[in-house]
Amino acid sequence: MNSQVVARSNSVFTPAFHTYHSIAIQRGEGCQILDQDGKSYLDCASGLAVLNIGHNHPRVMERVSQQMANFVHTGGVFLNEVTVEAAELLTTITPTGMDMLFFSNSGAEAVEGAIKLARHVTGRQGIIAFSGAFHGRTLGALSLTSSNCRYRERYPPLLPSVYHAPYPFCHHCLFGCRTSNCTLTCLNYLEDMLRHSITPTEVAAIIIEPILGEGGYSPAPSPFLTGLRQLCDKYGILLIFDEVQSGMGRSGEWFAAQGYDVTPDILTVAKGIASGFPLSAVVSRRELMEKWPTWAHGTTFGGNPVSCAAAIATMETIRDRHLLPRCRQLGNTTMERLRALQKQHPLISDVRGRGLMIGIELTQPDGTPASAACDRILHECLEHGLIIINCGAERNIIRFIPPLTISDVELDQALRIMGEALESVL
Ligand SMILES: Cc1ncc(COP(=O)(O)O)c(C=O)c1O
Repeated sequence: MNSQVVARSNSVFTPAFHTYHSIAIQRGEGCQILDQDGKSYLDCASGLAVLNIGHNHPRVMERVSQQMANFVHTGGVFLNEVTVEAAELLTTITPTGMDMLFFSNSGAEAVEGAIKLARHVTGRQGIIAFSGAFHGRTLGALSLTSSNCRYRERYPPLLPSVYHAPYPFCHHCLFGCRTSNCTLTCLNYLEDMLRHSITPTEVAAIIIEPILGEGGYSPAPSPFLTGLRQLCDKYGILLIFDEVQSGMGRSGEWFAAQGYDVTPDILTVAKGIASGFPLSAVVSRRELMEKWPTWAHGTTFGGNPVSCAAAIATMETIRDRHLLPRCRQLGNTTMERLRALQKQHPLISDVRGRGLMIGIELTQPDGTPASAACDRILHECLEHGLIIINCGAERNIIRFIPPLTISDVELDQALRIMGEALESVL
C-alpha cells in the first residue's frame, strides 16, 4: 500500500529527503509505472530527466544482468573493459575534440570535478556562474547553484571567488528585452563584471546550463552562447557546459552544445547516461585532461562496471533506434500542441524548450506566478494517471520530460490529461 510506505518513509527519512509525489512504485516499464496500490501511471518526469529510454529497457536489463554475473565493482584497484568501452563510446557522441574523461557517480560530483579541473589546469581561482542555475547540492556545486535561495540558506560560507551573472532567461529578461529587440545586454553585463568585479586573468571558468533546467526550463538564446564562447576565448577562460539535465539526447541532440554549434572546454554529463544507474562524467579535450595529474582527483565508485554496462546499452539504444530525430520531431509537435492549448488557457504564459525538455509556465492574470494552480494541476494529473513535475524558484513551471521512447498514443494521453487538468483549475 502506498500509504504504508509513505508512513514508514516519513518515520525513517529526514524531511530533506523528499519526493515530488507521495506514491510508491512497484514496477516500471517504458513510460508506464505501477504503484503499490495497483494504479498505473504514465511517467512524464522520467525520474528527473534520467530515464531517457524509459524504465527497465530490455537492452539495458540484459546488459546489466550479464555484467552482474561477472563482477560488480572494481573501485580504483584494477581496470575492467566495460568501463573503458563505456568511456570510448561516450567520446564518440560528445562534441568534437572532447575525447578524454573522468567517471564519477552523480551530477554534483561531475560539477565538482569540472571546477577542480578548471582551477587545476588554469591555476586561477574565480568561477562565474549564472543566477537561476542549478549545479547540485554538494558545497562546491552549491556555491554555483542559485536557482532558489532555500537551497543555500544557512550553508555559507560557500566557495569563495564565485560570481553570478544574470542567466539569459528571455521570458523574464532582466533588461526588459524581447526576442525581437534583444541587444544581448546580459552578455555586456557579464563583460562589465570582468571590468568591475573580477579581473579576467583570475577567472578559471564560466559555467552555464545551455538549457536552464531546475531554474525554469529555458533555453539560452543562440547568440548568447556564441558570444560567451568568444568572450572566454578572448580572456583565456574555460567554458563549462553543465549538461547533466540537457544531455544524453534530451534536447534532440546528444548534447545541447551540438544543437547550438558551440563547443565548451569542459562538459558535465550525468542523469540520462545510464538509464537510472548512477554514473556521471567530466569530459574535456585531451590537451586539458592530460594536465590533470594522477592523485589530483579520485573516486571509489565512479565508473562502476554495472552502471557502465547500462550506459553502453543506453547509448546504443538511442543511436540504433534513431531517438534523436524522433525526440526533435516529438518535441516540435508537442510544443505546437501546447501552444494551441495556451490559446484556450490564459494561465499558460509561455511554452518553450528544445526536444523533449519542455517548460510550460503558468501565470495569474495579474502577472504573478501561478504556483498554487501549478500544484493543483500536478495533483490533478497524478489523480488521472499522469506523472509530471514542476520547477522554477516559484514552482510555477511544469517540466514536461517524457522518455524519448514515448509512443504517439501515450503522448496523446499525456497531453489530454494535462489539458483536462488545466480546465479543472480555471
Ligand atoms: C544541470 C544540473 N547540474 C547538476 C545537477 C546535480 O545532479 P545530481 O542531483 O545527480 O547531483 C542537476 C540535477 O538536477 C542538474 O540539473
